[in-house]
Amino acid sequence: MSALGARAQRHDARGKVTGETKYPADLFDPAMLRLGTVFAHRPHARIVEIDVADALRVAGVIAVLTARDVPHNRYGLIENDQPVLCEDIVRYEGDRVALVIATDDRAAARGVGAVRVTYEDLPPVSSAAEAMQPDCPRVHDDRANVLYHQPIRKGDTGAAFAAADVVLSGEFSTSWQEHAYLQPDAGIAYYEGDALVIETAGQWLHEDRRQLAQILGLPEERVIVRYAAIGGAFGGREDLSVAALLALATFVTKRPTALRWTREESIVGHHKRHPFAISTRWGALRDGTITAVETTLVADGGAYASTSAEVLKCAAIFAQGPYEIENVSTDAYVCYTNNVPSGAFRGFGTPQAHFAAESMIARVAERLGLDACVVRRKNLYREGSREATGCVVPAGVSAVPVLDRCVAEAARRPLGRRVSRTGSCENSAVVRGRGFACGIKNVGYSFGYPEQARAAVELVVLDGIRGARVRIAVADVGQGAHLAMRQIAAQTLGLALEHVEIVADDSSQAPNAGSASASRLTLFAGRAVHDAAEAALHNYRSGGEPRAFVQYVPPETTPLEPGTGFGRPNICYGYSAQAVDVEVDRATGVVRVTRVISVHDVGRAINPQQVEAQIEGCIAQAIGYTITEDFRVRDGRVLTPNFTTYLLPTSLDVPLEIVPVILEHPDPNGPFGARGVAEMPLVPFAAAVAAAVHDATGAWVSDLPMTPERVRAALDAATARHDAIPTLR
Ligand code: MOS
Repeated sequence: MSALGARAQRHDARGKVTGETKYPADLFDPAMLRLGTVFAHRPHARIVEIDVADALRVAGVIAVLTARDVPHNRYGLIENDQPVLCEDIVRYEGDRVALVIATDDRAAARGVGAVRVTYEDLPPVSSAAEAMQPDCPRVHDDRANVLYHQPIRKGDTGAAFAAADVVLSGEFSTSWQEHAYLQPDAGIAYYEGDALVIETAGQWLHEDRRQLAQILGLPEERVIVRYAAIGGAFGGREDLSVAALLALATFVTKRPTALRWTREESIVGHHKRHPFAISTRWGALRDGTITAVETTLVADGGAYASTSAEVLKCAAIFAQGPYEIENVSTDAYVCYTNNVPSGAFRGFGTPQAHFAAESMIARVAERLGLDACVVRRKNLYREGSREATGCVVPAGVSAVPVLDRCVAEAARRPLGRRVSRTGSCENSAVVRGRGFACGIKNVGYSFGYPEQARAAVELVVLDGIRGARVRIAVADVGQGAHLAMRQIAAQTLGLALEHVEIVADDSSQAPNAGSASASRLTLFAGRAVHDAAEAALHNYRSGGEPRAFVQYVPPETTPLEPGTGFGRPNICYGYSAQAVDVEVDRATGVVRVTRVISVHDVGRAINPQQVEAQIEGCIAQAIGYTITEDFRVRDGRVLTPNFTTYLLPTSLDVPLEIVPVILEHPDPNGPFGARGVAEMPLVPFAAAVAAAVHDATGAWVSDLPMTPERVRAALDAATARHDAIPTLR
């Protein structure tokens, strides 16, 4: 059987089902010292004094570390603006102030309680809007509060609005989102010879190693990062969390250490999806051609930079969705505040941008009296279209066939009765509706960030090729990346899947293939595996060593020009379209998703079952983002630090009918044409739900999440307007 396109079973499936698989917290051993984290628990303050004397008197406490114990106390994925332990200023609730090292968890917890920190509280900068006020105090002394501003200018929006038949404005807001990975942040650290080893869960072994070596002032070869099984990541493990504390503790004590954050520590201590405020204006001609889009996006970046600038740029380039618009003017801003830092989360700025853009195109269509999918189709990117940044869209544009397939699949599954049953109170009803939305998201790093993947393949030769070992450092965060790499190697080498093994979870044993992020592993790491396998085969057949090492470097992307946003930001896009059916209880405002048709061009499905699982899992997360997950922060304080206040969707919230549809329009660079799918279902989803709620009720919801209160308010507002949106025809 061919390895490519096979619904092959994952080699990690059995252990995960039986419980044998070891996640980071399963590696703990009684001989390891236990760490306790002293969090600031206040959003903004000056540290006057840290008194550790009482803590050191607690039986079992070995040491209490503070900022002065950190060799280089500045780190970050993009910018070095975050301290491992705070020196003088606390910038958010989850800032770490001290680290207690003890013989056991109880002593560590008592030690944490006995550290006396004297603070002088400062007023927090509690929103991006506040941060942008000219007289607002700075979150970082040496930086303006606007951490990044990205303008994009194409054509002449002023003239286009003047000539438009219809101009519509919209205001949208989105909230934070918590990754809620199953295994909270945990890990161990120990010395192996003179190398410091950190075993944890992350998304990029070599980047973690770079940051940890920098923090400790060690050469990178003296730091080894290993990944245990990773219980989900979704972008939430892109930034270092416990790894920095573990590395520091073992570096100082020279002893093995272990640390696990509780769920509440994890929720307050690691970054979130960015909340956005978006105001946008769309101009169109009677025939449905969108002629101008002008958008201002303002995002709350929280206390530290994390990946904020990159997320912001992704939101900015998709402020008009997957459409070719002649005249675009976009200004995107992300600000420092004293809130929890915002950073990477599945979709990386595109779900927020699409919520506004896809809602607007549906409203414009409604105003013109046209079908929204017809208007979408008219404006979608095609081969040769120009992006807002002026460049030609990367080849392999499948936006139109993806939408067409979605419309066709939806037509085969009628919505059914408009009024489904009696609602929660007398004289109210549960009403049904259907909405569509399209999506576009980059695969791979953008804006000139160096993109590459290395891989090594060694053939097992014994009277012919009997097997192969692939070495490639890719994080299997639960998405099945290791299996995909093996399938690509098996297919290239003509081997059965079980004869291909992978070494992937050790920075000293496998070469750097970049992060498990940006939906990029299948394309870029997969291409490196493919090329290394081919090269090994070639070497063997020409009488050389039966192995090869390659570095795959794709075509370059460019940064965006500062004033205009001009540039070629990406080399590959994933295209999506969704049809979502909902039921809305008019009395309570409760929205229930009953069916999702989710169409994705993945280029080539290396393993269709894994692709379908990605789509289904992502839709569950998208339902949370859109409806149930209401992450609240007030005056810099997280009000929802646990799963009793922050409501994840359960199996009852996920529809029985999810129809994943896989299209295969090959990408020119991907292995066997493969692109990526990981983030794609989250991109259009919220807008599709908004359109479905509108179809059911006549009301547009413009704020995420669509809590019952917000839906009720939107219903009341729509009733007050008598649903009076005039059409042009
Ligand atoms: Mo991601 S949000 O690119 O880990």
